[in-house]
Amino acid sequence: MEVTVSRKAHFNAAHRLFNKNWSEEKNEKVFGKCNNLNYHGHNYEMIVNVTGKINPETGYVIDMGVLKKIIKDEVEEKLDHKNLNLDVDYFSNTIPSAENICIYIHKLLRKKISNDLNISVTLFETPRNFVTYPSN
Ligand code: NI
Repeated sequence: MEVTVSRKAHFNAAHRLFNKNWSEEKNEKVFGKCNNLNYHGHNYEMIVNVTGKINPETGYVIDMGVLKKIIKDEVEEKLDHKNLNLDVDYFSNTIPSAENICIYIHKLLRKKISNDLNISVTLFETPRNFVTYPSN
């Protein structure tokens, strides 16, 4: 029997959406305010879901204290108060859209969580706009 355990976390970061292969006009048209030359910030909220079998010795799918520390060390430390375009190598060639940030967070967590466990990440860029990876 599998159970999903979830933890919420948040970070603040700045970004700018643009495609370097496009003209300024096209970037402006497609990305609008998110193309703002001087960047802008979001209060990102995320939910990390970990699904797997309960370990009979602990009663846990994953120790929440361990999950909390992994999220802090792997995600918050790397993204909080950063300019995603300038400070995070991954986004030097990848547009830091909510979709791509969500995939990146999943990648960071995947490296630290046992392969017996499935991970999904929901990332809120605003209270109303959010993305999930992998998609259901
Ligand atoms: Ni934005």
